[in-house]
Amino acid sequence: MERLSIDLKENPYDIYIKAGIIKELYQYIGVAEKWLIITDSNVDPLYGSFLEKSLGQEDYHKYVIEAGEESKNIATVEAVLSFMIEHGFTRKSKIIAFGGGVVGDIAGFTASIYMRGIPWIQVPTTLLAQVDSSVGGKTGINMAGGKNMVGSFYQPDTVVIDPELLKTLSKKELFSGIGEVIKYGIIYDYDFFKYVDENLENLLGLKTEITQKIIKRCCEIKAAIVTKDEKEEGLRKILNFGHTMGHALEAATHYQKYTHGEGVLLGMHHETLMAKAMGWIEEAYCREITDLIHKTGMDCTISNQLKIEMLEMMEKDKKNAKGKISFVLPTGKATVKEILLSKEEVKKWW
Ligand SMILES: NC(=O)c1ccc[n+]([C@@H]2O[C@H](COP(=O)([O-])OP(=O)(O)OC[C@H]3O[C@@H](n4cnc5c(N)ncnc54)[C@H](O)[C@@H]3O)[C@@H](O)[C@H]2O)c1
Repeated sequence: MERLSIDLKENPYDIYIKAGIIKELYQYIGVAEKWLIITDSNVDPLYGSFLEKSLGQEDYHKYVIEAGEESKNIATVEAVLSFMIEHGFTRKSKIIAFGGGVVGDIAGFTASIYMRGIPWIQVPTTLLAQVDSSVGGKTGINMAGGKNMVGSFYQPDTVVIDPELLKTLSKKELFSGIGEVIKYGIIYDYDFFKYVDENLENLLGLKTEITQKIIKRCCEIKAAIVTKDEKEEGLRKILNFGHTMGHALEAATHYQKYTHGEGVLLGMHHETLMAKAMGWIEEAYCREITDLIHKTGMDCTISNQLKIEMLEMMEKDKKNAKGKISFVLPTGKATVKEILLSKEEVKKWW
């Protein structure tokens, strides 16, 4: 069993990581008058009844949302809130987010606004959610005007991570999480970058010991960053490496073609090339990064037409400042820096 403490001043909590931990869930969730499991239509048939048994509680309800990014909207949140009111949930109730990043973001946002905030627990089921979205307390939903436009910073009580759950993930969803894994190596820990490079096959094959070790290191790095900067006022921005282009790619393809993690993989690839073109990193280090991204099997080509559409999306990015587009780019091994670029500068270097 791996246990990590997230030492936030106001809301400290623990992350527990162990293969098979889901069977003992009742030991980690504390007490509540009533429980709401929020899950999605893919996870529920696979593990729903299993989770209900390991919850060890009698007074619980389950709300199943349609799987996919399209559900991450205000209508879903409103439907969950209405369900909770109808079923008599109080401030002494708890929500369990049982799913990937979509379920986590919806459940966390709902928990943060129901009766001005009730406790919640994250049980992430995708690699992306286990290494990234379940740590750090960002919650939110998409609006017509953009992704994650509405949300809150709201930390869970506990995060319980079972790497065994990843065995039913599709290859596409597994690759999607690998983007975030690689990101931590680039922004924070070059030894970890090399470790992932050497163990990519084992990770793709979900070898228990290595997968658990990688998840733990990712959570440690994210925890180290968010405890220093919970509300993204400074350091936390480094987590956005690959995300400016990644989000733009997702938006320009109407969230149909690429998963979030695939967007991040492509985003990191192209932002690294841009950093190289700007003279921020050496050719050799640029190649190390792009080679590892290629090793995942990701096709990183982007057509010129799509580049134009992505630039339009980037101009609307909520991270932008002073009329310029915000990027986090590598400047050396395990170091990255924020830079603001005008649309013309992006065109020039990309
Ligand atoms: N809050 C944050 O800090 C943060 C960080 C990164 C990403 N995100 C958000 O997370 C979302 C992406 O998360 P995601 O990649 O987990 O997507 P997701 O939640 O849509 O899950 C991906 C797919 O895998 C399925 N699935 C989940 N667990 C499974 C399992 N164990 N076996 C089989 N199938 C399973 C889901 O039903 C879904 O179809 C995006 O909305 C993104 O904005 C949030």
